[in-house]
Amino acid sequence: MPDIQPHLFVIFGATGDLTKRKLIPALFHLMEDADVARRCVVLGAARSDWSDERFRESAREALLDNGYSEEAVAKWCTRNLFYQCLGEGGDDYEALRRRVDQLERHLDLPGNRAFYLSLPPPVYGPAIDGLGDVGLNESPGWTRVVVEKPFGNDLASAQALNERVHRHFDEDQVYRIDHYLGKETVQNLMAFRFGNALFESIWNREHIERVEITVSEDLGVGGRGGYYDQSGHVRDMVQNHLTQLLTLVAMEPPASMDANAIRQEKVKVLTSVQQPNPETDVVFGQYGAGTVDGEPVPGYRDEPDVPDDSDTETFAALRLNVANWRWQGVPFYLRTGKRLPTKLTQIAVRFQGAPVSLFQSDGQPCIPQDADCEARSNELLITLQPNEGFDLRFEVKAPGENENGTMELETQQLSFSYADAFGPVPDAYETLLRDIIVGDPTLFVRADEVEASWQLYAPLLDTDNAVHPYEAGTWGPEAVDRLLESWTSGGRSDP
Ligand code: BG6
Repeated sequence: MPDIQPHLFVIFGATGDLTKRKLIPALFHLMEDADVARRCVVLGAARSDWSDERFRESAREALLDNGYSEEAVAKWCTRNLFYQCLGEGGDDYEALRRRVDQLERHLDLPGNRAFYLSLPPPVYGPAIDGLGDVGLNESPGWTRVVVEKPFGNDLASAQALNERVHRHFDEDQVYRIDHYLGKETVQNLMAFRFGNALFESIWNREHIERVEITVSEDLGVGGRGGYYDQSGHVRDMVQNHLTQLLTLVAMEPPASMDANAIRQEKVKVLTSVQQPNPETDVVFGQYGAGTVDGEPVPGYRDEPDVPDDSDTETFAALRLNVANWRWQGVPFYLRTGKRLPTKLTQIAVRFQGAPVSLFQSDGQPCIPQDADCEARSNELLITLQPNEGFDLRFEVKAPGENENGTMELETQQLSFSYADAFGPVPDAYETLLRDIIVGDPTLFVRADEVEASWQLYAPLLDTDNAVHPYEAGTWGPEAVDRLLESWTSGGRSDP
């Protein structure tokens, strides 16, 4: 792995929640062991009139909450953290440029810079222009700009933002974040597929009946009602996180593990997926009041900052067809929602059954298409969170015989647990921040990739499709049965 070089890591939105919860702990943990830790400097920037001291204090709190020692934290904060106020308008980029120059001179930094935009999406464009206008898009070393999701809110706005970014930065300087790509188990999808010929040889329409991707959350929208109500679940989760999982499951083997070779294959998948028909391939839902984990919870419309008559979807289930030689005719079902019974990210691959089932309770062979045929198919469950691992389900003979004197089959599974094998998995942000600093764009979304995924969901973004109510703590509205009656991961009402 390339070494971390001395650099300045500038965080826009340094007084915000993401900085405190994710960025500061990840940077601290990364830098703790770097040989050049002294010369890896973080410069927070935001509108608030904070001092270096105030920023350090906020970081110190976050790090102590994460269990780091008082001494190590105090040293790092004093030596490595600085803050620059961007003025009331949040646009004093000249002041920022002067501070960057001054810190680099003073701390003997080589001019390597990352600018992380942890900002509300409407401010991405102005911040990019601001950096370009004062010349912060160039430096004596490397310069990288990191843009959080959502990148645009439809195809046109994503294209416009890409154009704006490219006015000031080359594509290889741009790191579009989707934190799902930093999850160890998501990256492992590639290792699993392309490191094991066993599965790859049956990973196609000849052997797979369907693929289900479930990303369920037990949480509601919490304090983010204002943002979420404008966005909805397709924009918040489907266009990015679920689509990334889909591309990793469906892509062809890349020519190499080079970033562009991989991203090329992902774009190819996205452009093969047919746009879903809002009426037949999609079910939207919105949670009402209910019970999650034994606690009563309010309905979506009663959450702070959500209008009483909102028809924003908090749940989406989709059927997608990947129209290429590998997948044509294999349905990909995507299901995701807030306030479902449990937090679970899982990919279920159902293989085709035996052509003739010999093990029926009445002793008569049947074919799986027959209504009363009891044949069961093999399934592979890839769990990305929590309890990361795999389960491969297969049929075994249960001991003894049934009352008709025939053999009875029972489903059992072979299981692999990530935690048992390797201990706790690293945090996604730490992986991604390291990649930004060492200049590896593999786990970031390329310009054409983000546009292809907005294009794919265009018919769903402003549809007036019905949004079906569901009770919090269930697996979504009953209308989901229209797409798929029995999901492998969890039941509709029964986790
Ligand atoms: C974010 C969404 O991108 O991902 C949130 O904006 C969602 O609404 C979150 O809760 C889920 O991430 P994770 O890592 O907890 O599955």
